[in-house]
Amino acid sequence: MIIFAVETSCDETSVCILTKNKDILSHITYTQDEHQKHGGVVPELASRSHLQILQKITKDALLESGLDITEIDIFCATCGPGLIGGLLVGSTFAKSLAIGLNKSFIPINHLEGHLLSTTFNNEIKYPFLTFLLTGGHTQIYLINSIDNYILMGETLDDAIGEAFDKVAKLLSMPYPGGPEIEKIAKEGNPFSFNLPEPLQKSKNLNFSFSGIKTAVNLIVKKQQKIDKRFTADLSASFQYTLSKILNNKVKIAISLLKNKNVEISQIALVGGVAKNNYLREALKKNFSSAGCHIITPPEYMLSDNAAMIGWACIQKIKINGKSNLYFKANPRLSIQDMKI
Ligand code: KG4
Ligand code: ZN
Repeated sequence: MIIFAVETSCDETSVCILTKNKDILSHITYTQDEHQKHGGVVPELASRSHLQILQKITKDALLESGLDITEIDIFCATCGPGLIGGLLVGSTFAKSLAIGLNKSFIPINHLEGHLLSTTFNNEIKYPFLTFLLTGGHTQIYLINSIDNYILMGETLDDAIGEAFDKVAKLLSMPYPGGPEIEKIAKEGNPFSFNLPEPLQKSKNLNFSFSGIKTAVNLIVKKQQKIDKRFTADLSASFQYTLSKILNNKVKIAISLLKNKNVEISQIALVGGVAKNNYLREALKKNFSSAGCHIITPPEYMLSDNAAMIGWACIQKIKINGKSNLYFKANPRLSIQDMKI
């Protein structure tokens, strides 16, 4: 069985051709760089760009895989959540191909793509915890099985990636800010600035990042000279604060689950921010010895990509996912809203 997957929910235009047996025959992701000069993603520019690039990378992917389009068995695409223009472009493109070729179309939730990405390359022991850390979401899920996710907590304001991007912007770094902050933080002292740690005393699993961004803003405004030393120290302190927040939430999650007699041995980090080595290593250091292993998907499945959408589609098929050409793209599509 050969699957063709499309991801266009934000500023990555991505297609993937893969088999049910996990062979990735082609995977092409185009990252739109036209947003850089605006310091963030401009939705209208993103959808126009998806429209221009999608046909080209589809042709390239078919060439690379050595397949003819008629050999594809199932088409799938991200139908939400995300920017509606991009979702419409990608899902309509995949649906049209499915209709024209009389094949199935399976709608995929972008968050499910991220959540299932670690099941691609890890021996999973259910249930396991997943931290979804992206530019649009910060959520903690208990994953009991494919298709059974319990949302345990989420951000009440900014997403963690958004916090990275906003702090980077305050420090005049290019978009996306996460990788820039990680790079320069290596040269800084993480104890230089005391930043707030919102909700750290609460025993729930919600996050809040907007106060940290405001604190950084005040520090930047007061500073006379914004030089490399200052930028590195503030970046390192910001990253260190986020790492403390994440570590604390992992501790709370483990203890909340223990109280309900749920033992976990794996904590998955998914989404673009999970690329951050400093955050990953801090969690590994703190929890691996206690028998909790930090797991991540393959690198190419961390940022937005069509491979994780194709893989989620394969999982859906295993549990009887059906073709649905009438599924509407929805910018606020949710997996479910069940809190422990
Ligand atoms: O998952 P993703 O590619 O797209 C969304 O679904 O949002 O995540 C993008 C986010 C951006 O905010 C970007 O700054 C952040 O991931 N990011 C990082 C790193 N690489 C990407 N944040 C921190 N450290 C990184 N190395
Ligand atoms: Zn994403």
